Amino acid sequence: MDKDKLSKIVSLCRRRGFVFGGSEIYGGLSSVWDYGPLGVKLKKRIKDIWWQTYVDSREDIVGLDSSIIMSEQVFVASGHLKGFVDLLVDCPSCKKRSRIDKLEKKSKDIYLCLECNKEIDLKKSKPRKFNLMFKTNVSATEDEPFYAYLRPETAQGIFINFSNVLNVTHKKLPLGIAQIGKAFRNEVTGGNFIFRMKEFEQMEIEYFTHPEEANESYKYWVKERLDFYTNKIGLDKGNLRLREHGEDELAHYAKACTDIEFNFPFGWSELEGIANRGDFDLSEHARVSKKDLSYFDNERKEKFIPFVIEPSAGVDRTFFAIISDAYDEEVVQGRIRTVLRLSPKLSPYTLAIFPLLKNKIELVKLAKNIFSDIKDEIPALYDDAGAIGKLYRRQDEIGTPFCATVDVDSLSDGKVTIRNRDTMQQERVDFSKILDFINSNII
Ligand code: GAP
Repeated sequence: MDKDKLSKIVSLCRRRGFVFGGSEIYGGLSSVWDYGPLGVKLKKRIKDIWWQTYVDSREDIVGLDSSIIMSEQVFVASGHLKGFVDLLVDCPSCKKRSRIDKLEKKSKDIYLCLECNKEIDLKKSKPRKFNLMFKTNVSATEDEPFYAYLRPETAQGIFINFSNVLNVTHKKLPLGIAQIGKAFRNEVTGGNFIFRMKEFEQMEIEYFTHPEEANESYKYWVKERLDFYTNKIGLDKGNLRLREHGEDELAHYAKACTDIEFNFPFGWSELEGIANRGDFDLSEHARVSKKDLSYFDNERKEKFIPFVIEPSAGVDRTFFAIISDAYDEEVVQGRIRTVLRLSPKLSPYTLAIFPLLKNKIELVKLAKNIFSDIKDEIPALYDDAGAIGKLYRRQDEIGTPFCATVDVDSLSDGKVTIRNRDTMQQERVDFSKILDFINSNII
């Protein structure tokens, strides 16, 4: 575990306004985080790229935005009410509460505590079941409660709207329904920054197919999603790997599952799961709701319950992976330069514009004019809060690929100095060519 890198990333995110602790001024709330001004920009870029790739540019996938609060019956059918539990155990020596599946197993009932490394005997320290769903009262009065749940995955909103979507779109199978939205799990063992949160965001596709085509589709999605992280998001191939689930670790609904793992600062862990959910969800919702959720295939003249392939990605873990991959330090003229080498497609800003001297009115005016000419074309910002070195350092740390400085010469030659974040090389560029320069330098 690279604890040093993890704490540097947390500190940078806090310092530059990517991520803050949740309820911070009241002492914080464990495993709850808030996204700051730059964090929301990066998060939006991730979601936009995903949506553009799978919804806007494909004919076989449509979008949905279902509600977060859902009826108890949904989770009776999905199996979450009964089966979405963590088995927890308290270490008798140090009292640390842990998930059993995260402990090192020594023999049938003996595990090692992660905190103090002492043995935990499950026969003596009895494990307890803990449901991860948040239950809430949606009735108007407290004495006559009516309970509902915050969804623990966006997927269930898709399954219960399967017929609605099919009826209004008149699409044929295979058909995907995509959704981006919040999900909630009462994770009792948090830590590792935004990796495991109580409130997080998912980008999920439920891809409905004929059962005979499900396996091919599953293989397609595993490959497609891995390619997405390298080609569209720009993650380093060497930090990604696939891990297929063994029979004993499959979720209750899954016939097969492959995780895309990322090499986070604390080690390899799940970034996304791609599952073959078979016909489990539609069959169970049909059984509990007593609604027919089957599909009639006109060409095959066959009625069946579709199988579902589910690529389920976490926005927050993608965000974390991007920052972790992009974080870099190098020594420049005897000082450490921290730089986020974000892909320009993801950077909160593509261009920062500064006047070299903030007390020279003509330079400030010119820099502000250039900014206002360009801000509707590319994500740009104007900054004059500090000396030039400090301004560069700030932009390096937030991953801005280009900085344009207006100096005294700009007043006569109509040019700015553009500095490249990665090479730190500087070039004089005509005001009218700034956009062309940036576009031609973005790969
Ligand atoms: N619908 C399937 C499903 O929810 P999952 O493996 O439990 O499967 C899918 O979650 C993805 O959602 C994970 O790969 C991860 O990226 C994200 N995720 C799950 N729990 C999370 C949590 N507590 N905090 C942050 N992200 C989480």
